Amino acid sequence: MEWYSAPGKVILYGEHFVVYGNRAVLCAINRRVQVSAVPRSDDIISIQSDVASTRYSMNDYATIDPALAPLRHIAESRCPGGVDIHVRSEIPPGAGLGSSSACCVAAAAAVSPKQSPPRSVLALALDAERTIHPNSSGADCAASTYGGIIEYSKESPKPVWRRPPDTMRLVVADSGAEHSTARMVETVARFARDNPERFDTMKDMADSLAGLALSSMDAGDIHTLGRLASQNQSLLEDIGVSNDTMRDMIHIADRHSYGSKITGAGGGGCIVAITDGSNSGRTASALESAGYHAFEVSADAAGVNPL
Ligand code: MEV
Repeated sequence: MEWYSAPGKVILYGEHFVVYGNRAVLCAINRRVQVSAVPRSDDIISIQSDVASTRYSMNDYATIDPALAPLRHIAESRCPGGVDIHVRSEIPPGAGLGSSSACCVAAAAAVSPKQSPPRSVLALALDAERTIHPNSSGADCAASTYGGIIEYSKESPKPVWRRPPDTMRLVVADSGAEHSTARMVETVARFARDNPERFDTMKDMADSLAGLALSSMDAGDIHTLGRLASQNQSLLEDIGVSNDTMRDMIHIADRHSYGSKITGAGGGGCIVAITDGSNSGRTASALESAGYHAFEVSADAAGVNPL
């Protein structure tokens, strides 16, 4: 049985605004999802994962756990005789660390012909992700497919690699509250509908923050990267994807790091703090002491690959 593995991600700058065509900067992280797909010839689709499992005949209409809709799409569109899919994950679900997109990417690779180009794996993974998140920008699946630090935009979906500053350390803390990306994207859509001019201004600000972050990354300027994360957080507050728990975590992280922000859709899930070797440990310990699970992640240069 051949397993494929794909990394999760943190969004360093530009989540939500990327849905409206902005640039976002993402970092694939060293927490991965592994998927195997073994074709069958009896029309049975079997999916086993920690989140949910199912087994049904393709000839019957089957109601399945909505969380499995992306894998169902992949199985039914690419495995005409049925398939056994197994999923193993090191990434907590609903935490904003890209578990479901990494699962889509690894599964797309597992059912695709060997040596398929990344762009065709990404296209299938994105079709699958859109079964539960119809407005997905594709940013998460792109980070998971290509790995490393990428600049991504919907208009030019070929992500551009960046080199992270050697000294940069990323501390992630988990609020423990699961969130729904689709619901948070809808919250922002409502804000944009109700405040069109304000949203346009904020969108421009978010795009220039992403641009500045890319040049600060090239210059290895961690202090500025932290400051830009905090400015990005203010925009996320304004569009309504933060809450008291996230603010508490940000407040703690900002006392020790160079800056921090929600990563991903918000409304729960994780924050990410920009640090280096001098303050990463302190940042994580302060968050842990306040009761939040905190850990360091590093950039994973490897995108989707066979195990
Ligand atoms: C979710 O990880 C990122 C969002 O920007 C949604 C998207 O890009 O599709 C909130």
